[in-house]
Amino acid sequence: MTHIGIIIGSTRPGRNGEQVAKWVAGHAEQRTDATFELVDLKDFPLPHLDEPMPPAMGQYQHDHTKAWAAKIAEFDGFVMVTPEYNHSTSGVLKNAIDYLFAEWNNKAVGFVSYGGVGGARAVEHLRLVAGELKMADVRTSVSLSMFTEFKNFSEFQPSDFQVSTLSTMFDELVAWSSALAPLRDRQLAAQQA
Ligand SMILES: Cc1cc2nc3c(=O)[nH]c(=O)nc-3n(C[C@H](O)[C@H](O)[C@H](O)COP(=O)(O)O)c2cc1C
Repeated sequence: MTHIGIIIGSTRPGRNGEQVAKWVAGHAEQRTDATFELVDLKDFPLPHLDEPMPPAMGQYQHDHTKAWAAKIAEFDGFVMVTPEYNHSTSGVLKNAIDYLFAEWNNKAVGFVSYGGVGGARAVEHLRLVAGELKMADVRTSVSLSMFTEFKNFSEFQPSDFQVSTLSTMFDELVAWSSALAPLRDRQLAAQQA
């Protein structure tokens, strides 16, 4: 069964990201075409990137990197739940992404973002990053405005129409995650040869 990780891209005390990610996970649970799991960056405390070798070399030295790599390797695709910080994604999510390489390759990714303009600028930056990591970023993304989808900028109250956008994103994500399975198998075989 295709296995999708839902990554919470904020570790800030009082973060809105947790409410959003739990909403994503709640709808994901109702699907039968994939299994889903929340991945909280708080559970994987990574310092500023401290691996001596570039991640593409796959020579991880630190236990925190190995633990993070093992978790990400479990998945066939991802939903990145990202805030918008200074017209981009959060530093903590970018740092966590930068730690790894092969574990992201040939997997699909969909985005759920939030911010003043729905976090759209964060998602556009993440799409550039996804390309370098050989990830297939699906077209549909969920953009949640802080002005309309959050009461007092802190209580998540999504509009009904967001659910159908989320569902379309899931459809695209599960389809591409499974379609890329042969490439991942080939990659694994090459690594083991
Ligand atoms: C450091 C920082 C920078 C921010 N920059 C932007 C921004 O450029 N555009 C925007 O729409 N919102 C911006 N915001 C507002 C966040 O999108 C909003 O606070 C959101 O709830 C942050 O996600 P979090 O609560 O999960 O950490 C910023 C917030 C922080 C903390």
